[in-house]
Parts: sequence; C-alpha cells; structure tokens
Amino acid sequence: MSAGNAVATGSQRRFVRVAATITATGGLLFGYDTGVISGALLFIRGDFVLSTFMEGVVVSFLLVGAVTGALTGGPLSDRFGRRPITLLAALIFAVGAIAAALSPTVGILVLARFILGLGVGLASLIVPLYIAEIAPPDSRGGLVSLNQLMITIGILLSYIVGVLFTPIEGWRWMFGVAVIPAVILGVGMFFLPESPRWLVKNGKLTKARLVLARSRVESEVETEMQQMEELERLEREQPQTGYKELLTPWIRPALIIGVGLAVFQQITGINTVIYYAPTILEIVGFSAAGAIAATALGVGVVNVGFTILAVRIIDRVGRRPLLIIGLIGMTISLALLGLVFSLESTSTAAGLLATICLALYIASFAISLGPVFWLMISEIYPLSIRGSAMSVAAICNWGSNFIVALLFPVLLAALGGAGAFWLFAVIGVVAWLFVFFMVPETKGRSLEEIEADLRGAVVPASRVR
Ligand code: BGC
Repeated sequence: MSAGNAVATGSQRRFVRVAATITATGGLLFGYDTGVISGALLFIRGDFVLSTFMEGVVVSFLLVGAVTGALTGGPLSDRFGRRPITLLAALIFAVGAIAAALSPTVGILVLARFILGLGVGLASLIVPLYIAEIAPPDSRGGLVSLNQLMITIGILLSYIVGVLFTPIEGWRWMFGVAVIPAVILGVGMFFLPESPRWLVKNGKLTKARLVLARSRVESEVETEMQQMEELERLEREQPQTGYKELLTPWIRPALIIGVGLAVFQQITGINTVIYYAPTILEIVGFSAAGAIAATALGVGVVNVGFTILAVRIIDRVGRRPLLIIGLIGMTISLALLGLVFSLESTSTAAGLLATICLALYIASFAISLGPVFWLMISEIYPLSIRGSAMSVAAICNWGSNFIVALLFPVLLAALGGAGAFWLFAVIGVVAWLFVFFMVPETKGRSLEEIEADLRGAVVPASRVR
C-alpha cells in the first residue's frame, strides 16, 4: 500500500483515544466539583451554622474562581503551552480538594471553593483545546466531546458520592475524594506530549512531526504539517496576539459564534433544571424524599446516556444538525414544563408529564448545546490566538452561569414556575435562530481548513476519508 492510501493503524488511533480520555479527567473534575456542593451543603450548613447569605457565598465562589481560571487559562496556554497548563490545573484541583476537605473554618472553605473554581475554569477550556489539537479531523468531534461526557459522569458521580456519604454526614469526604481524579490527570498528563499545533506555532517543527506521527500515517502528517506551515506563513504577515486582536474583522464572526453559544448554553436554563429538578418535582406533587433523590439520579443518568450518543454520532451527523434538533427538543420541553406549572396541579398525570419534560430537556441538551459549545470553541479560532479566544467564550459561559444562578430565585418569585420556564423557552427560540443563521459546520475538516476559511485563504486539502 502506498503512503498516500495508507490509513492509521489501530494502535496509532488508540494513542489519541487514550490521550483524550486521560485529558478528559479534567472534565470529570469540572462536573464533580460543580455538582458535589448540593449534597455537601446539607451538612456544612449545620457544622458551620451558615446564614443563607454565607451559603450563597460557599456555593457561588466556585463560579467566581471559574471565571478567573477561564480568564487566565487561555493566554497562559498560548504562552507556555497546553501541557504545562493542564498540569497546573491538576495541581490546583488537588490542592482545592484537600483544602475543602480539611477546612477548619468557613473562610477557608470559601477559599477552597475559589481554588477549585480556578481548576474548573482552567480545565473547562484547556481540555477541549488540547484534545482538539491532537485529534485527527475525522474523529475530533467525538474525542473532544469525551470532555462533555466526563463532565456529565462527574456530575452523576457527585450525586452518588453524596448519597454514599450521607449516613455519616461526611461532607469532608465528598470533597476529599476528588483528589483521586486530580492525581490521575496530573500523572497521566506528565506522560503525554505537548500539542503539535502549539509546537508548530513556536517553531518546534521536528517535535510537532513526531507527535503527529504517533497517531497518523506519513501522508496525514505531511498534509497537516503543510497546512500548519502555510498558515504560519500567513500569520507572520499579519501577526495576531492577545485579546485586542480578537476584534480584527476576519476573527470577529468566530468571536460572535463562540460568545453566542457560550451565553445560550447557560441562559436556556440547563443548570437551573439540573439543580432544581428535585424542587420542580416536589412542586408538581412528588413527596417522598427517596423518589426525589432517585429522580435527581435519573437526570444524571439521562445526561450521561445521551452524551454517549452525541460522542458516537457527532462526527457523522455533524455539529449543526445536532444543535438544530436539540434546541427544538429543549424549547418544546421547556414550554411544556411551563404549561404543567401553569395548571397548578399536583396529580400523578402532572408529575408524570413534568418528569417526561425534564428527561426530554436533558436529553436534548446532552446531544446539542452541551457537547457542541465546548467542541466548537476549540475548532473555530485561529491558532495564533486560540487560547485567548477560548478564554473569552469560557468567561462568557461561566459569567452567564453565575448570573442565571443569582437571578433564578428572583425570576421564580416574580414570574412563577410557569413564567420562568416560558422565558427559557423563548430564549430557546432565539438560540435556535442564532444557530440557524450564524453557526457553520466544522465536521471532518482540519483546524487549518477552518482557519483558512476565516482568513479567506487556501491550504492544501486534507485527504477525503
Ligand atoms: C455546561 C455546564 C453544565 C453541564 C451539564 C456543560 O457543558 O457548561 O454548565 O452543568 O454541561 O451537563
């Protein structure tokens, strides 16, 4: 077989799969550390005699840390490389977990939550960034979406660990066990190479070639190297660095897409639905605490299950169709959920309908905005400022997450359950229009081909598979 026709061997492809899975442990920590607080808070409240205000501080300081981590992560990774920043995130996760588990005062606990948040913010962008840069174009969607899969598994694990430690009121253990994935991430990353794209950007062509050769055949390595070098040549003509370059006219469309998806991912209500699911079901008539807990687990399982589906089909079906279909499902289920609330019924039928709507909503998110947002922001930005641009999108995501968490109780009081969900449904329609008219398809194309399109330039074509 000539080099031109050769395809990568199983073991070559296995290398990227293993590398992506290890890196995605950062996603697991993202999910776990954001989810664990709901179980832990029940007991922290008693141990530290928290006021409602301090409860809010303990919960929300993770988000403050995440915004800070997202702000710094991108520029740092552009400057020092993707690998050192992932190692830094692992270290921060471990320190945060230990500090939270041992915190003698509520002040230290708040600090620990901030540190954990830094890790979460860093991981949220560095994990998809690194995976996208090592992945071959034809499997990039599924590999990067392993990050989202790990986020959902992390959330589910946090529920399970919460239930397991409840009998001993073990909130310190709930935080402490997160040291284990932090160590796995750190040790695993230690053995993984730097991203080939970052190496090319920093003139280390031989090293980049060696890294690519671990997962590609010679002809694939050649094409990707030529594409990267061609863009590097253009880049030297119009150098881009730092945040202000994001406003350059040719980069602006990508900036709008990233920020739009970031905000819509949050303001269509995902985290209120995830964390208020038990409350929602209680309002429509569920009573036994056990049933409520089981439903919370159900939300977690549906989230994981449909994310697995997304990982499997995203490189075949593409990003756009998933977004378009998923947003329709999310909007319909939100509108129906509002309807159930407006009936003010606590009948079994109302409870059942609410459960179905919740499941449909989570499933629709899990095949669309969940994975596709984090994937697309790792694909659509030019290499020279990829880290910083992803930072902007990630900050918008964490910032919107924070604002929704802050405003949801107010919204609920002002509009009632029905009004709040109908508002989310209206936002779902706007998000759908945004996707339909603004978001391009990136399936199957190399990062360099996507960048060349933005620049209005041409690079040697990737082999059609
Ligand atoms: C979002 C999180 C959300 C999670 C749920 C992620 O993509 O960024 O805010 O909690 O998905 O699965």
